[in-house]
Amino acid sequence: MLLLARKKEELAQTAKLCESENVKVIHNSVDLSVASEKEMFDTIINALTGYKVTDFTASLIFHNVGSLGNLSIETSRIEEVQELREYYDLNVFKVISLNTQFLKIFGDVEDRIIIVNITSLCAIKPMSGMAYYCSGKAAREMYFRVLAEEKKNIVILNYSPGPVETTMIDLVIDKTVNANLKEVFTSFKNQGTLLKAETTVRKCIKVLVSGNLKSGDHIDFFDDE
Ligand SMILES: NC(=O)c1ccc[n+]([C@@H]2O[C@H](COP(=O)([O-])OP(=O)(O)OC[C@H]3O[C@@H](n4cnc5c(N)ncnc54)[C@H](OP(=O)(O)O)[C@@H]3O)[C@@H](O)[C@H]2O)c1
Repeated sequence: MLLLARKKEELAQTAKLCESENVKVIHNSVDLSVASEKEMFDTIINALTGYKVTDFTASLIFHNVGSLGNLSIETSRIEEVQELREYYDLNVFKVISLNTQFLKIFGDVEDRIIIVNITSLCAIKPMSGMAYYCSGKAAREMYFRVLAEEKKNIVILNYSPGPVETTMIDLVIDKTVNANLKEVFTSFKNQGTLLKAETTVRKCIKVLVSGNLKSGDHIDFFDDE
């Protein structure tokens, strides 16, 4: 398993958890918002040292990276194109580019590839006060849906995890200028309705293992099985 994110210590903690389940883990601190295509390609190639892509019965990539964008501006006042570009760089363009590096490397075993895009209800349902996030998630999800149309041998899941107890939720409550959004997320938090990461991840894995999905589908934690 190759883990990519910025914070070294947190990566090391996650790696330790995986290793306790006998998973071999390599972790690299990478800022995906600025990583070049070559850096992403080389990072995967280096992690494969000693292996051939045909050694694996399945090759999975989880696109989990995500950020919220500017929550302190009303949608009707958004005008900072550079800020939008930076948001889209991390959440859409670099995700597409990383995915392409992965496909270049594992392309010879296309029928063993599984791609999971961590999406959101916000990709398909507008949420007041979250224009950056909703539009980015929608664009990212549509890229994976188009890819699924073209690559019939690859399994692609757009998994929407539901409201999860992570720092993202605290950031929304703290930064949003939208009173309704603040209220919705605060009540999720206070009523204890936020999901544990482990709970929603378990559902995601269950969906993958069951094979009960049409490639490109958007599947939500709350969808019936
Ligand atoms: N929490 C929810 O209720 C919820 C609901 C629906 C969907 N989601 C989606 O779930 C995914 C995970 O979100 P989360 O709730 O766990 O939020 P989070 O705690 O903020 O996690 C964001 C993840 O992205 C990584 N990341 C952020 N910027 C990065 C960068 N520039 N380069 C590399 N990695 C970067 C972070 O690691 P580093 O900080 O170490 O880089 C972290 O692993 C996101 O795609 C989010 O949109 C969350």
